[in-house]
Amino acid sequence: MRLIIVSNRVALPEHGKKTLPGGLAVAVKAALRNRTGVWFGWSGDIADAPAPEPRFVERNRVTYAVIDLSDVDYQEYYQGLANRVLWPILHYRVDLQAYSHADQSGYVRVNRRFADALDLFIEDDDVIWVHDYHLMPLARELRARGRTNPIGFYLHIPCPPPDILQTLPHHEDILGSLAHYDLVGFQTDNDRDNFADYLALQGAKPGRGRSFWIDGRQTRIGAFPVGIETAAYARLARNAARSRFVREIAESLAGHHLVLGVDRLDYSKGILHRIDAFARFLALHPEWRSRVTLLQITPKSRGDIKEYAAIENEVTTQIGKINGLYGEASWTPIRYVNRSYSRTALAGIYRTADVALVTPLRDGMNLVAKEYLAAQDGDRPGVLVLSQFAGAAAELGDALIVNPHETEAVAAALKRALEMPLAERRERHAPMFEHLLTYDVDDWAESFLSSLHDARQRPGLVEGLRSMFGASAS
Ligand code: F6P
Repeated sequence: MRLIIVSNRVALPEHGKKTLPGGLAVAVKAALRNRTGVWFGWSGDIADAPAPEPRFVERNRVTYAVIDLSDVDYQEYYQGLANRVLWPILHYRVDLQAYSHADQSGYVRVNRRFADALDLFIEDDDVIWVHDYHLMPLARELRARGRTNPIGFYLHIPCPPPDILQTLPHHEDILGSLAHYDLVGFQTDNDRDNFADYLALQGAKPGRGRSFWIDGRQTRIGAFPVGIETAAYARLARNAARSRFVREIAESLAGHHLVLGVDRLDYSKGILHRIDAFARFLALHPEWRSRVTLLQITPKSRGDIKEYAAIENEVTTQIGKINGLYGEASWTPIRYVNRSYSRTALAGIYRTADVALVTPLRDGMNLVAKEYLAAQDGDRPGVLVLSQFAGAAAELGDALIVNPHETEAVAAALKRALEMPLAERRERHAPMFEHLLTYDVDDWAESFLSSLHDARQRPGLVEGLRSMFGASAS
């Protein structure tokens, strides 16, 4: 029995140290670490005439299987429906969605291509785990090809309430297709409950143990907050903090306090709101000027999409204004870096930072918050300022929780964080670190996969599958 992980992008080993942005890659790698498995998805390459069958690469008991996309696939499926429709809607930004029928057809067509390619190599006893919003209809396509394997889906990003989900044209066809999975997992109870409300409105009948019946199929739903490799990350940060790279950053700060923001350049991350709050802090507390630096690390993302180009311009303009207004010849208030750093380098920077400002407007989980905490020296920890709208806030109640829309409150939290006595910093950090050690990424993968296993054990499900696929279902 193998675990087949499917995600839009695959972190091919030849990408070397170039990490994929986002927590998905880290989580998927951890899920495959102690299991025999295959990670299947898009290579990240565009080809004139992509081959239907995947290319395979073997490394350390993991088989990577990838296909290329054509340019029109990339435009319609990835840039179009996935990132200009589903991404904004699921992040509560209905106003930004740019729907077209062509993009929806492209989305379904690429999901069919994924299913065709998987159909070439999956075996009957494989367990299939599909990740993220790019691939919602995949189980339906696999079922249509007669595949009766256990298939689970995990949504790494938020799931808003039904009123918002229903703004997606033809939502029944896309979101409704999730009912073809045996298990659908979410980051938080809130996301799960929103989806349960949506299913109920679509006429699904509740079954036992958080399951729903739709058209003779039973789907279980659950919340499985994604974790990090806490113990390993803490070790990594300890060593990285001694590296020349991190020492040079510390020297360049010349004794200033370091406030850190790390986000993909994305409108959901609240980078503009954060910068405004930092400016407000400097305006209200002149005694802190020339004593604190905000380092905003922001790898560019999805740059061909209009909304992303717009946010890039706004952020650079705003940072320029604030640096011009408050900066001195000897002090730049905000350092803005558009590149990504290796996992090790980032861990070292996290450990050096006095405060992390993790203030997305909406986020599925936000693993920067968790990695920042894991990277701290428990004897002299820094302080996490965390948006109430990040999934992580449901677990990390000892952070300074803020509403990122309330500029004054974020500025006040920053002041409190910078001035917090050591004893309070320790008291807040210790229980959160303990929590992250217990609920780490291995625990996440284990609990999702055991729930998927349980979902398949229920007699009700077998009946449902029989009604769909005939007596061979088991
Ligand atoms: O976590 C959300 C997500 O879309 C992941 O699926 C992906 O790995 C990451 O963000 C980066 O996005 P992209 O692949 O579009 O650059």
